[in-house]
Amino acid sequence: MKPPLLLAFMAAVLLLTGASHGEQRERISLPADYETAFTNYLSLDRVQNPDQVIRLFGNDKALEGPDDDGKLPYGSVIVAEIYKAQKDADGEVITSSLGRRVRGELVLLGVMQREPGWGEGLAPELRNENWDFAAFKPDGSIAGKDIDACRACHAPLEDTHHLFSIEHLTPAP
Ligand code: HEC
Repeated sequence: MKPPLLLAFMAAVLLLTGASHGEQRERISLPADYETAFTNYLSLDRVQNPDQVIRLFGNDKALEGPDDDGKLPYGSVIVAEIYKAQKDADGEVITSSLGRRVRGELVLLGVMQREPGWGEGLAPELRNENWDFAAFKPDGSIAGKDIDACRACHAPLEDTHHLFSIEHLTPAP
């Protein structure tokens, strides 16, 4: 292959593989019964989004918390319900008498699941050990989010097994 052709070929390969990484993989499905079968272990005003509320649900595996190696068990699944915060007529976020946002419309369901080998093949800056991510609309259909954005924001959290909320999954001493 001549150098320009080779370059074009390599660019095409990069484009193709890159594109497939950002797309959601079918291996994660939204657990249909998470509202009843999972534990709502934390609900809060989102820390990095000024007008959203989040409710976090973990399955029994996730609720076991981190093992001696600091990792949650394989089979752990966490569902994040993301809501718009309610706003007043001027578009300002309403707070309750507790000083908290009040949840409005459910807009997205984010899922993290850990299974053996799931992180393999991902670039280091996108790898979250063996966790992977998915995002669904409230009706359960795939939301079409760039999953690499999820991976990139959670990837640096190596000390907390790529979770922002690991302390809330750790059983009290
Ligand atoms: C810019 C950073 C950022 C991006 C991008 C991001 N997250 Fe998160 N994620 C957070 C933060 C911060 C929390 C803690 C709760 C909160 O305040 O929202 C969190 C919490 C979570 C949790 C609960 C487990 C944990 O880590 O505590 C899940 C599940 C989750 N995110 C899924 C996703 C999915 C799916 C996507 C992509 C559609 C995504 N996240 C994109 C920052 C991010």
